[in-house]
Order: sequence, then C-alpha cells, then structure tokens
Amino acid sequence: MARPTVLLTRRWPGEVETHLAERYDVSLNSNDEPMDAAAISAALRSHDAVCPTVSDAIGASVLEQGAGAARILGNFGVGVNHIDREACRRLGLVVVNTPDVLTDATAELAILLMLMAARRGGEGERHVRSGEWIGWRPTHMVGTEVTGSTLGLVGFGRIAQATARKAHHGLGMRILYHSRRRAAPEIEAETGAEYRDDLDALAAEVDFLSLHCPGGPETFHLIDERRLGLMRPGAFLINTARGPVVDEAALAKVLAARRIAGAGLDVYEAEPRVDPALLALENVVLLPHLGSATGRTRIAMGMRVAANLDAFFEGREPPDRVA
Ligand code: DGY
Repeated sequence: MARPTVLLTRRWPGEVETHLAERYDVSLNSNDEPMDAAAISAALRSHDAVCPTVSDAIGASVLEQGAGAARILGNFGVGVNHIDREACRRLGLVVVNTPDVLTDATAELAILLMLMAARRGGEGERHVRSGEWIGWRPTHMVGTEVTGSTLGLVGFGRIAQATARKAHHGLGMRILYHSRRRAAPEIEAETGAEYRDDLDALAAEVDFLSLHCPGGPETFHLIDERRLGLMRPGAFLINTARGPVVDEAALAKVLAARRIAGAGLDVYEAEPRVDPALLALENVVLLPHLGSATGRTRIAMGMRVAANLDAFFEGREPPDRVA
C-alpha cells in the first residue's frame, strides 16, 4: 500500500525528519525559506498531510485554493492562531498541535526575559562588547531586583502555570493571574497564584506583567496604550505569547517616555519585522521568537506531530486534535 505523503513547510530537527521519512513519503522544503500562499495551497492539493509552523499564514483562501488531497495539518507548535480552524472544519481538515512538550522551555524564556529586562542584561552585554565599560562602580547600571517582587500572568494555561512555579518557588515571587476561567484550588495552591477577575486591576498591581494568552482576534492589542498606562512606572511587560497581543507602537512610545521601566519581548506583531522604534530603545530586551528553542524541546515537538500523524493514518483519533 502506498505510504501517505507528508510535506514539512520548514526544516525540522534531523532526528525527526529521519523518523518521519521511515514512515511516510516526506517532502522537505530544502532551502528552509517560508513558503508563500500559492506554494502552501499547492502542497495541500498534492499531499495527504501538510505540517506548517507559526511562520505560515494558513487563512481561509489558502485552504480553499488548496482543497484536494490533504486531510490533516500537523502544526509544529502549540499556538494555532495562524491557521483558520473554522475553515479547516468546514473543509474537513483535521488540525493537530504540540502541547505540553514546550511548556518548560517557554516558561524558562519568560523568566529569562524578566531577569534580562530587570537586571539590564541586554544593555550590559552591549556595553561590554562596545568597549565602553570602564570598571565596577556602585552606581553603574543599577537594575531592579526580581526576587520577592510581584508577577502578574495574563492567561493561566500550561506555560503560565509553569512560569508561576519557577517564579514562585525559584524566585520567591508573589503570583497573581487573570484568565477567562479560574484555575482549580489545588493548582492555585501549588503555584502560589491568586486570581484577579479584572485585567486592569492586575496590570496596576504588579511589577511584571507576563502574557500567556493565545493570539487571534480576541486578544488583538489586549495590551494597548491605555492598559500600559495603568502599569506602575517601575513595572516591566513580558511577551512570550503572540506579538499582536501588544500594540507595539504604543509600547515603544510608553517605553521611550519611561512610563514603564522596561519590557522583554520574544514575539512581534509582524515577525520577523521589529518596529524600528523598539530597536532604538535600551530598555527593551528583544529575542527572536526563541520560546521553544531548545534541542530537546524541538525534537519532542516534531515527535509529537509524528505521533499524531501515526494515529490519524492508522484510523485512530489524533491525541492533540484542535480542529
Ligand atoms: C508555539 O509553539 O506556539 C511557538 O510559539 C512556535 O510556534
């Protein structure tokens, strides 16, 4: 029997590509450049499974133009806001993602951004590399201590909870959170987290506001100039969720005027473009969407997609189905 055909829109870790090639007829995007809409539609028409990443915009028209062979999208990543799931349902396409396996790596990155922004890590490194450092002195590059401060989490899914655990048990932080649904009492107890039903009140109360909600129309510019204006002058904004959750131009304005102390960003409104106004500022740490970027996690993400494809093509329900 012919093996199912699978297309990966980007290069995946070698171990995973080899694993997939043992089971499927795999097409690789050998130059690893993002595929355009027409190429993704063509892939959908000619493969049983297409495996995209966050760098692929799979809207309704791409899916409609691509109606044909593909029966499943195996997304390499947990966030699926770049895929029109409603259109997938309509066209009978199953969508799976990769939860759990990237939780700790992404939570680590949120902690890294908090520490870097508060302790001026990026600024300090630029200073040393520029040759401008003239030596230790009591007043040099003084930052903000993270230990014992208050962290506010927006969204309280797996990654936010892992961030809460690391921050509470590792850094002695007080944890507050806002989400659509309040977590179970045992999760609150274990993470030391207190619920706030009002996002504005949360923004005004914390030293670090860290975003962990999904992207998409419901959270577009959730953090706008008004909400940034509610934050304390000494507070920091951390975004490891999705770029469009923050109004980037408003953030640049607020940071430039020092209306908040700083920010740490891993995601941007129009990746890979970063607002030049942010690039010009010292009080923002900018990372290139590295949340899940550890060797262990990236292999586990690929293997998770593979397990879902196996289930699907063996006629079982894929464990991580999101449409
Ligand atoms: C995720 O898994 O959602 C990461 O942001 C990469 O897409």
